[in-house]
Amino acid sequence: MILESITLKNFRNHKNAFFEFSLQTTLVAGENAAGKTNLLEAIYLVASGRSLRVKGVESEMIGYGEEIANIKAKTEKCNLEIILTKGELFGKRVSKKKYLVNQIARRTVDFLGNIRAVYFGPENLELITDSPSLRRKYLDAVLSQVDSEYARASLSYEKGLKTRNKILEKIRELQETDSSAESVGASRKKLYFWDQLLIKNGNIITLKREEFIEFLNKNSELLNCGEEKRQSPRFSLFYDRSTISEERLKQYSQQEIASATTLVGPHRDDFIIKSVGSFGLENRERDLSVYGSRGEQRLAILWLKLGELGFIEEKTGEKPILLLDDIFSELDLEHRKLVFDVTFEKQTIITTADLGMVETSWLKDVKLISL
Ligand SMILES: Nc1ncnc2c1ncn2[C@@H]1O[C@H](COP(=O)(O)OP(=O)(O)OP(=O)(O)O)[C@@H](O)[C@H]1O
Ligand SMILES: [Mg+2]
Repeated sequence: MILESITLKNFRNHKNAFFEFSLQTTLVAGENAAGKTNLLEAIYLVASGRSLRVKGVESEMIGYGEEIANIKAKTEKCNLEIILTKGELFGKRVSKKKYLVNQIARRTVDFLGNIRAVYFGPENLELITDSPSLRRKYLDAVLSQVDSEYARASLSYEKGLKTRNKILEKIRELQETDSSAESVGASRKKLYFWDQLLIKNGNIITLKREEFIEFLNKNSELLNCGEEKRQSPRFSLFYDRSTISEERLKQYSQQEIASATTLVGPHRDDFIIKSVGSFGLENRERDLSVYGSRGEQRLAILWLKLGELGFIEEKTGEKPILLLDDIFSELDLEHRKLVFDVTFEKQTIITTADLGMVETSWLKDVKLISL
């Protein structure tokens, strides 16, 4: 799906901005802090419903001192709009994020998938170095774009989890204060309903995360490039899953009440990016977050992103929009060439702080935006 234009109001440093994109390549040039990544972030938000700066709070995307931000994206088929607030407007409670398609409010699952995007840039390194919650959000962002069943399951799981944790807290309180077996029993019965909901949705999430990770591992040679297809380092993902089932819940039931938290399930998943036999270490796997050099981590992210692109294409039969953030300073020449090879016949938006570094001969039909 082609993105024709985007209008930003109070989105980060873009107070009032309008951008039109080429069907092929749009090059966004601007100094540091001009708002290049912010523009890509807005596009990624429309595609995935999430910020690419996965660590922050979502309301941070609203311009400083403002209460409401607005993103309007025009695709070849429809008008998409997201309204962001801090949860309150004129003293009234309102939703923090609202989605509209052709001016009509829609549920998240009906909004996502209208455009799809893959972001590759410096913000991604956190995926290797940071906490598991970031990697789970990444999986959610990718899978929610391609699979509405996943999007539905993960929204329902998140809500269910909150409720279940509240009930666990209630049971803990009851056990401490009022030990009448009756009231504890009633809460346990309630818990049963939420157990079933979490098991059902949790299993969907686990299965689909597993499918994505398997896809990546099957495509371990994505990075081979250069004249003689030089053997590049190889990577693999290890899915460190926390499955949810009746047995597992039973096993942890005492600890769950004591801590008033649900202790098993995909909200505790993680994945580890490993390099396999690279840099002279044959057949040895290393955890990149511990042992990877920065350059090696960057290549691992590139590998992950190329796989993500392939996965989205295979699942949807459509080409996602490529958002390439500052890759000129991040990658060596050979790997830059590799990235440009995949931009072929895809809508691509590339940012740079230094136009001098761009190999324009590699790009087709370029439209320049200067910030
Ligand atoms: N909520 C916000 N409101 C206003 N400005 C913001 C907000 N969040 C971030 N900014 C500003 O946006 C600017 C950074 O924009 P961005 O990250 O898009 O820059 P960039 O062009 O990608 O720069 P670089 O070349 O360094 O990557 C910073 O000056 C930052 O202070
Ligand atoms: Mg940037």
